Amino acid sequence: MLEDLGEHSWAESTKIWDINFCKRLAHECQKLSDDGQLTRAAIGFNVGRKVQPQIRGDFTSWIDTEKPNETQTEFLHELRQIQNKLNEFFYLGLNSLETHFALYPPGFGYDKHIDNHRNSNARKITFILYLNEFWKIGDGGELSIYAPNDEQKRIAQVTPELARFVLFRSELFPHQVENSHKNRLSVTGWFRNNAL
Ligand code: OGA
Ligand code: MN
Repeated sequence: MLEDLGEHSWAESTKIWDINFCKRLAHECQKLSDDGQLTRAAIGFNVGRKVQPQIRGDFTSWIDTEKPNETQTEFLHELRQIQNKLNEFFYLGLNSLETHFALYPPGFGYDKHIDNHRNSNARKITFILYLNEFWKIGDGGELSIYAPNDEQKRIAQVTPELARFVLFRSELFPHQVENSHKNRLSVTGWFRNNAL
């Protein structure tokens, strides 16, 4: 993935994360949903913040990096290893990470966007780990990735199946979550350089 990331500024693989660990994360995400702990995600920032499910339809729960449970502790540990590797290879000065569970109910997606908030370039690398066992063609919910210099040109479509891991340079790629026809679970996050 590091090679691909260096060459294309994005990468995907199903060989990074242990399947059983991904199932534990999926279980945790489903439980948060069942317990009513997921909240409708908003778009925009500060006063411009609003919930618009037709633009962005997921429900999320941030992982509290100060008080992670056992599974989350393991997850954060692995993510920090990845963060270190990214710093070794690309000198990005990554010094923090933020990550949330996400669930898109049937009929929802996320329109084309770029991940950095206006006025901030702190998010350097986006990561997404998909948590859906038995995802089939026709279930929708693909991640469409567009060319950095031509947001009409789709360069990849990624299916959100269990253990698939995606990394991309946050500033560069317009991307979109196609409408999902089933509950679509993932953990999404960002490696940050808080000096920016
Ligand atoms: C996001 C996002 C993509 C995905 O949460 O910003 O673009 O495939 N997610 O879940
Ligand atoms: Mn995004």
